Amino acid sequence: MTKGIRVNGDLFTIMISERRIKARVKELARQISKDCTGTVPVFIGILNGSFIFFADLIREITVDCEIDFLKLSSYGDAKISSGNVQLLKGLNCQVEGRDIVIVEDIVDSGLSMDYIRNLIMRQNPRSFRIVTLLYKKDSVKTGIHVDYVGFSIPRDFVIGYGLDYAQRERNLKAIYRLKRAAEASNKSKREEQSP
Ligand code: IMP
Ligand code: MG
Repeated sequence: MTKGIRVNGDLFTIMISERRIKARVKELARQISKDCTGTVPVFIGILNGSFIFFADLIREITVDCEIDFLKLSSYGDAKISSGNVQLLKGLNCQVEGRDIVIVEDIVDSGLSMDYIRNLIMRQNPRSFRIVTLLYKKDSVKTGIHVDYVGFSIPRDFVIGYGLDYAQRERNLKAIYRLKRAAEASNKSKREEQSP
């Protein structure tokens, strides 16, 4: 397992291992399957970031279901959300009267999720649930309710398992966090001091 990696000169260290992700995805799928028993839910993945989580989660779901995808404007090539959400690909399924489960990689400010909720609710679903692998608890600005959270994390910028940095690193098997400037400079001071 890679402990630390460098991307564009920035240092990232491991935050959540592949083993922990796998175990948590199974638990989430078990709970969602239980809650959706007797319905045929539509799982809607939010592209691009959720594609790996979506594929792993859906294979652990034990109820009959349908899938679809929404694509929203990307984060840009930066580490800070623009907050300006745009729809790049809409749905192909019928939402009215259906049980909808949104599958997201990460809820940061919550603005994307707010946009998605408004988009779906206008089409009168029977129920609306959200599952996110990661939830930045100190960052969420909207009153969005998330039904299933894989991991609640600090405000760090993270990559891997679908999440990108300037479109790269989505293929990493674990989740890595950006080392904050202070941590990185402490480390380089230690390195300077060591003989
Ligand atoms: P929000 O609208 O601020 O909640 O941001 C949601 C989207 O921004 C997510 O679906 C991700 O695609 C992206 N995003 C948020 N935080 C991160 C991060 O730490 N790393 C990579 N992408 C992120
Ligand atoms: Mg996303």
